[in-house]
Amino acid sequence: MTDRVTTAEGSGGDCCIAVRNTGPLSGEVAVPGAKNSVLKLMAASLLADGTFELSNVPDIIDVSIMAELLRAIGAEVEVLGRGAVTIRNTGDLTPVAPFELVEQMRASINVLGPLLTRCGHVRLSMPGGDDFGSRPIDMHIAGLEAMGASFSYGEDYVEASVDRLRGADIMFKFPSVGATENLVTAAVYADGVTTLENAAREPEIIDLCEYLVAMGAQIEGIGTSQLRITGVAPGSLRACEHETVPDRIQAATYIAACAVSGGRLDLLNAQAGHMQMVLTRFRDMGLEFEPLPYGLRVAAPGRLRSTDFATLPYPGIATDYKPLITTMLSVAEGVGIVTENLYPGRFRYVEELQRLGADIRTDGHHAVIRGVPRLVAAEVTAHDIRAGAAMVVAGLAAEGTTTITGVHHIDRGYDDLVGRLQRIGADITRFDA
Ligand code: EPU
Repeated sequence: MTDRVTTAEGSGGDCCIAVRNTGPLSGEVAVPGAKNSVLKLMAASLLADGTFELSNVPDIIDVSIMAELLRAIGAEVEVLGRGAVTIRNTGDLTPVAPFELVEQMRASINVLGPLLTRCGHVRLSMPGGDDFGSRPIDMHIAGLEAMGASFSYGEDYVEASVDRLRGADIMFKFPSVGATENLVTAAVYADGVTTLENAAREPEIIDLCEYLVAMGAQIEGIGTSQLRITGVAPGSLRACEHETVPDRIQAATYIAACAVSGGRLDLLNAQAGHMQMVLTRFRDMGLEFEPLPYGLRVAAPGRLRSTDFATLPYPGIATDYKPLITTMLSVAEGVGIVTENLYPGRFRYVEELQRLGADIRTDGHHAVIRGVPRLVAAEVTAHDIRAGAAMVVAGLAAEGTTTITGVHHIDRGYDDLVGRLQRIGADITRFDA
């Protein structure tokens, strides 16, 4: 693993990917650790002094950005290679998250809860992230206010302070992933008990809660939509070791690649239990799955059949699968409807699929996809992480050579996507523009 933070801004920016239909894929793919877990684990490491050892950390730009953010706050972060990262805190933290790092990545917001509960003060620039519509943080703020924090606002930052957070009963209007994470991490040092109702319960949230418990936090209801956190004495948590949960979205990306190409893949480390709903629907489309002692086998015996999908919070179909699903439906037999219930603006990649000959009509938060036998190569752009992966999958389903720009988005969340696909037989290369 390389610490890519020095190249984070420009990495992939001048790169392109060329990909063509190659027919059936075969072999093994090791599924890396989950971006949307490890970034939160890293932020939660601000809660205790000592040396944390994280393993199964993906080699992605967002990890480098989070490493740089933690360093700016006062932690020592070392990227050791082979998926290992250590984070060392000596207690000397500056609870300020600078704009140039926060604007690059939504997950920067995850330092809010740990810094506020540990330092009693935090100043955070407003988070950036992907371009699929407004992404407010009102639930994070309302929850922390209910625990006694006061907020003030500047032009592009938010500041919070409190003597010591106190336990509170918080009901989320929506099971927000980020708000659940910030509130759980804030509650670990609060005075008394905090209950979070309608909490998000994604596998990555379970991973974070288990990390906090390994640090000495008291959390009940892990994996359910009601979390109960009993605050421990401030400063009493300790550093720990932890292995990051495998990435279900990266696993689904290789499933989608196999689905449009044919063939059979063994996905090492894939956790079928974290993907039950989407695997059921993929079976409806004609894919076959077999559990392996160390992962999951997928086979694509013929042309996919269309079906309808609607995105929902976990255990529903994750919005992050949607660009992949839309791409699969683009070459499936029949008509499928995809309904987006989380981010109304998350259909930008549809124009790119249309460039490749996909027959898709969007209406509000619905997309109607009439499958065509084969897409046709074109030059397309990756507008965000998942849309970028979908372009790669679409290129595998297209006649001719598809060129993808905006590769830096893919690098934010995918650990060697091109190399992994090459090793299972895909005709794909990366080159400087
Ligand atoms: N929302 C609010 N107010 C809030 C918080 C959220 O209205 O205070 C809304 C959002 O605008 C959105 C919905 O609630 O419409 C869901 O937001 P959530 O907080 O659940 O998402 P997030 O924490 O911002 C994480 C992932 C996303 C993933 C979503 C949903 C990270 C860093 N990001 O975002 O992943 O799509 O959960 O599962 O964990 C990606 O990895 O490419 C990605 C975008």
